[in-house]
Amino acid sequence: MMEEENDKNVLDDLLQGTSDAVDSHMLDTLITKVDELKESGKNIEDRSLNKKAYGLDIGTSRIVSMKRGEDASGLESADELNAFIAVSETKFLKDMLTKNKMAYTKIKDDIAILGYAAQQFANTFNSEIRRPMKKGLITPDEIYALPVMKEIIGLVLPRPDEVGQPLCFSVPAPEPGSEMDLVFHEGMLRKHLVGLGYKAKSISEGMAIVLSDLADDNFTGIGISMGAGMCNVCLSFLSVPVIVFSISRGGDDIDASVARTMRETVNRVRVIKEESLDFTRTPKSNLENALIIYYEDLITTLLNALTNILSRAEKLPRLNQAIPIVLGGGTCMPNGFKAKFEQLLKEVNMPIAISSVRLARDPLRATAMGALISASV
Ligand SMILES: Nc1ncnc2c1ncn2[C@@H]1O[C@H](COP(=O)(O)OP(=O)(O)OP(=O)(O)O)[C@@H](O)[C@H]1O
Ligand SMILES: [Mg+2]
Repeated sequence: MMEEENDKNVLDDLLQGTSDAVDSHMLDTLITKVDELKESGKNIEDRSLNKKAYGLDIGTSRIVSMKRGEDASGLESADELNAFIAVSETKFLKDMLTKNKMAYTKIKDDIAILGYAAQQFANTFNSEIRRPMKKGLITPDEIYALPVMKEIIGLVLPRPDEVGQPLCFSVPAPEPGSEMDLVFHEGMLRKHLVGLGYKAKSISEGMAIVLSDLADDNFTGIGISMGAGMCNVCLSFLSVPVIVFSISRGGDDIDASVARTMRETVNRVRVIKEESLDFTRTPKSNLENALIIYYEDLITTLLNALTNILSRAEKLPRLNQAIPIVLGGGTCMPNGFKAKFEQLLKEVNMPIAISSVRLARDPLRATAMGALISASV
């Protein structure tokens, strides 16, 4: 809470006289914070408590945990699909799940098969998975949402070794009109994580991308996470989030739109998209054409929203130089995605100069990485 207050004060000061140079005391504060965050991003960390810090990306499609580890990369991570299937309990089913080491839990009279095991089960029995989250938030349409998510989190996050172990989890940026849903989402997750014994705080997903990939730019630039349920954006100035917003569209919407127009199942579209979409070659089928059309529409919608929000912003810090955009999230994964994004960026009238567009070093784990850096300071 203190940290959030500090950020808010720094931000208020920063934006007060936006045409003036930043005052020297505030600059010192910011530089100290930037240094701390950079230090936290390094693999070898001396402070022992912080070695136990966890980053947790709670996404619409996947939940990813990350901590510092002993292996070559200096990191350890685990991920699960944020999905389940509920089936009536039978002894045969339980034996089969146990024998195949598939994660499950009992909820009321049902067995909920969890995570990647649910996808495997759905593929085998030709059924659809259910999701505890939609558009970045816990969904009220799914009665098992909370118990299932607690179990899936438990698959990637052990109980803390000691009380008060630091953890930072990602939350989406509020959407105009649904701010109160975010309050519930954040509150429920925080309560659960604190209940496990963690000292939990949250970070906006776009800011997590900035922390994970913009250290060399002193955390100044635009971080974008393009996920399954939404796209989250953060313009950060020296590690202070200045503009944070989201659009409630992502990879799921591409899958649903293509499935509708091509009379295909959502699951088949998703598999084709993930396995073979390539922006650098001529599309081989109508389905690939449709994927490209909806992909372009998503990127253009995102860029238009960014352009509008930046143009309307009353106060922006004075940026003396062009700033980078860094892209994370699973929707950025297809071959040639960055070039496609750059091409569409040229077509909008961005009110601030962009120096480069980059992909996060590890797009699927960038949010968890940023959350880990935040948890470690
Ligand atoms: N290789 C790939 N090519 C295209 N899309 C991919 C690829 N790998 C994953 N995706 C898509 O990325 C999305 C999942 O990304 P990610 O894990 O970043 O989302 P999330 O964090 O769970 O969701 P959100 O941030 O919206 O809540 C899904 O729509 C998935 O189909
Ligand atoms: Mg995400």
